Amino acid sequence: MPGAFEGETVTRRRFMNIGGQAAGGVAAASFLLPALGFALGPIFKSTPHRWETVGTIDDFLDSNYIPTVITLTPGIGEAGKTTVYVRKRNPAIDTDPPDRDTQFIAISSRCAHLGCPVRWVNAAERFICPCHGGVYDLLGRRVGGPPVRPLDRFYTRVEDGLYVQIGPRYSVNSELERFSPRDPGEPIDGIGQYLYPSRPSAQKL
Ligand code: FES
Repeated sequence: MPGAFEGETVTRRRFMNIGGQAAGGVAAASFLLPALGFALGPIFKSTPHRWETVGTIDDFLDSNYIPTVITLTPGIGEAGKTTVYVRKRNPAIDTDPPDRDTQFIAISSRCAHLGCPVRWVNAAERFICPCHGGVYDLLGRRVGGPPVRPLDRFYTRVEDGLYVQIGPRYSVNSELERFSPRDPGEPIDGIGQYLYPSRPSAQKL
């Protein structure tokens, strides 16, 4: 072999090249594999849907929201809880098709701009965000400020004919059509639904 001493099957230059490339590959993998694990791990982790009872059917009105608190992430105390505004479905107000199969409306308090907690102001019949002036109407649709879509909602169901339960989160577009949960700041009208696909773990936040 040219450049090799007698009896050698590989030159020292080639041996050093291969050794250097192998060391580089190991170094790169030590950075890339953990990052890939964090990014792709949630896809393979099945999270069972939790349903949480927030009261009985008589605890809620069809004309006003009652704030309730549910646990999104168990085991981390208050940090894992969130406020959900709940009312009975009112056929005179809730004329949109997606919610015809539910008896209760549950609106997320997480602002669709950057995630600050919004508050229902009864006198104004508006959800108002204190951070940048986001304003939403009775159905959670944006009527002012920078939010890019309506407030998220939660699935609801009535258990044993009496108990109101809150289930998984979902997002809605400006027509209040259901979409898998998105993060704050992600519009889902038009092409936005393709530009901002749902993260596997977005529902828990
Ligand atoms: S976070 Fe609500 S308006 Fe900015």
